[in-house]
Amino acid sequence: MSNKAEGNQGGCVFITGAGSGIGAAAARTLAAGGRPIALAGRSSEPLKDVAGEIRKAGGHAMELPCDVRDLPALQAAVDDASRKHGTVTALVASAGVMPIGPMHSADPADWKQMLDVNVLGVLHAIHAVLPGMLSCGEGHIIIVGSVAGRHLFPDATVYCATKTALHVISEGLRTELARSARDDGNRIRVSLVAPGAVDTALPATIADVDSRAATEAWYAGLEGILQADDVAEAIRWAIDAPGHVSVNEVMVRPTAMVR
Ligand SMILES: NC(=O)c1ccc[n+]([C@@H]2O[C@H](COP(=O)([O-])OP(=O)(O)OC[C@H]3O[C@@H](n4cnc5c(N)ncnc54)[C@H](OP(=O)(O)O)[C@@H]3O)[C@@H](O)[C@H]2O)c1
Repeated sequence: MSNKAEGNQGGCVFITGAGSGIGAAAARTLAAGGRPIALAGRSSEPLKDVAGEIRKAGGHAMELPCDVRDLPALQAAVDDASRKHGTVTALVASAGVMPIGPMHSADPADWKQMLDVNVLGVLHAIHAVLPGMLSCGEGHIIIVGSVAGRHLFPDATVYCATKTALHVISEGLRTELARSARDDGNRIRVSLVAPGAVDTALPATIADVDSRAATEAWYAGLEGILQADDVAEAIRWAIDAPGHVSVNEVMVRPTAMVR
């Protein structure tokens, strides 16, 4: 049984969506703390760039291009990371997409993509890392949710539904793992980190012209919009908490963001 005074320190950190935004910032921040990082995402080039930066700074990183919708590919990436850097003892599930727009004019393919990446992709990542965590008796699953999982934003119904699902999934998983901590002595923690508006490329992926313009204008008008590093810092704080402290839900907003 692991009963460490500090948070989980051994093994490696597996990050989905690690090529940009919050995932990339989390990779740099956690690598600076000395943890080996496995970087997952669809596009190889951004992953290589982030891995290169980490290595240049003296850290350890490996890039593992894969799509979170493809469970066998994701499992193979987790297995590769474990072979090279030891069991994955922390997961940061940051991969997500936000092709929002009004329901009446939406392309159902966008709904499917949001459900597949934002919900099923997170479940796939949990499925891939959890057995390793259970066998070594420690781990930390960090899910990047959103304030949109607590407050409905206009014309973003399905995106909000996916983020609401992550609140339920993280709390359900936490409950199961708390039982396992009580009965079997495992120390596996679950944290949902739910940001408000963060200055990343996410809004640029919105295809609906009006929704994209409205979102970009809203972001541009927000005083003190969060930077990806601000969210990475919240992730680092949750991971670095002593092992008996389970930070379950953190909402991080720009101070001047009303909802
Ligand atoms: N920015 C915000 O205001 C904000 C607010 C609240 C929550 N969030 C959440 O934060 C998370 C990260 O977003 P971000 O703001 O950092 O935006 P981002 O820079 O666009 O990051 C999203 C990442 O997910 C990856 N990704 C997308 N589809 C994937 C797939 N099928 N398989 C693997 N990776 C995939 C993307 O890389 P590839 O395209 O190369 O795969 C990209 O690196 C998302 O879950 C988002 O919902 C963002």
